[in-house]
Amino acid sequence: MVDPDFVRQDFQRRLREIPPQGIGLSVDVYSPDLFELVNKLRERGLQPGYLEVFKATTTALTTVRQAVPDIPLAYHGEGLWITQPDVQESSFFQQDVGEMVTQLNSIQSLWLNHECAMKQMAGYSFGTYVPPLYTRLSAEVVAANIAAVQQEMDRQGRRADGTAPLFLLEMPPLTYFSAGTIPIPHFFRLVTALVPCGLVLDIGHLWTVYRYTGACRRTSLERFVREFLDEFPLERVVEIHVAGLACHESVGEPKGGEGPPEWIDAHAAPIPSILFTMLEQVLAHSNLVSLRAVALEVDTKPIEMIVEEYAEAVRRFSLLVQRMMARGRAVEPLMGLTPRSASVQEPVRQSDRQQLRDDYARYAQIISGQAPMTGLEWQETAAEETGLTRYRTSYVPHEILHWGGDLAEMFPQTCRTLAERGICLTEFVAFWFRSPRPLTHSYDFFLLKIERFLEFVMERAPDARICIQQECDSLRQAYAQANEVVEPVMEMERTR
Ligand SMILES: [Fe+2]
Repeated sequence: MVDPDFVRQDFQRRLREIPPQGIGLSVDVYSPDLFELVNKLRERGLQPGYLEVFKATTTALTTVRQAVPDIPLAYHGEGLWITQPDVQESSFFQQDVGEMVTQLNSIQSLWLNHECAMKQMAGYSFGTYVPPLYTRLSAEVVAANIAAVQQEMDRQGRRADGTAPLFLLEMPPLTYFSAGTIPIPHFFRLVTALVPCGLVLDIGHLWTVYRYTGACRRTSLERFVREFLDEFPLERVVEIHVAGLACHESVGEPKGGEGPPEWIDAHAAPIPSILFTMLEQVLAHSNLVSLRAVALEVDTKPIEMIVEEYAEAVRRFSLLVQRMMARGRAVEPLMGLTPRSASVQEPVRQSDRQQLRDDYARYAQIISGQAPMTGLEWQETAAEETGLTRYRTSYVPHEILHWGGDLAEMFPQTCRTLAERGICLTEFVAFWFRSPRPLTHSYDFFLLKIERFLEFVMERAPDARICIQQECDSLRQAYAQANEVVEPVMEMERTR
């Protein structure tokens, strides 16, 4: 049995090594220009308490470390699908973790923040995050995978003071739906009881939980937040995120009328004032005792808007955040010291892993429209069916056809040829999800799109072979070059 006291003390010991960071920004190396952003903030007399940087090339991250030596950096990871029961068996997991530790070290990061979500499951790939199955077994698997990553960080991850980065698990956004058998706060309580990780509470993500679990029809936002926070392991929240929300372009602007708008997580969009009201409520909660940092997530947002929002956040929350961080540190000396070793994690039984693997295969088929909603974990989703219908009929097709590389722009010649033959691009969506494919390398949606579109064209219009191959080759070359010279080849919006 895992000893909950040991886990809690292990977390406290690790937390003690993280100094307060204050209010910072969560950014992307590429978009917008990070150095211009820092300069614009300085012109206004502002300096972010820290920068949380999204995964990029190690060269790009090292450049950032050198260019802003006076700003602490933290790391926002990507591509470790810790929700998945077979992730540790995949041939590239060790390599991905190794690369991540190298990047953590290169910026001397205090933590690894990773979304509790995935873009790949059971051989199916998506462009943006989908939430885990909120079940007891799924929580056990997440905890076991986090323990493995933390162990690797303890072994290889080192800052100058000899301490290792802490795994922070972020509660993901809901994009119109959620599936599971237990409440979301309960899921995170199960995870934190098993493993000494910290948590990131994203206020916009919390709003999407209110919007897409049916809570918005049952209760007020203020009451929902209060009840959620009472259940959620708030004492483990080390960082808070605040980002924009907006209606997705595949859905369009709200028509007005009943209920809150159909917003989803959107980092380029303005932060709605309701999120700052929710932030006030979170900061006032007595269980928030481990807070070290608050970041506005501003990747892909115009610099002028970032500067305005950051100035506003500092003006409004700086004192309060300082007070909350001090509160957390004041209670620490009460905790006992424990030897430096990761908490012992019990292995998840092979039969349970297999069960969850099957559950995730069905999950992927259901949300991509290949299978009907069956199974206990889909009962509540079925009651909110419009959300899942929105996801599978509008959002997913948009993702496959346009997001992270628009097919008509990527393959202009081939798309013209397909149109002449009467082959509609929407057929590519069904092709994409037709069957699971073994994952053979680290996740890269752009390269995956190239590979799958080539296969689609070879099957549907084999005589366009030379044309599609040429377009694939030049895209791959441009992409490789862009990654080397640290320039984005395509505007890649992200959902974190
Ligand atoms: Fe976030």
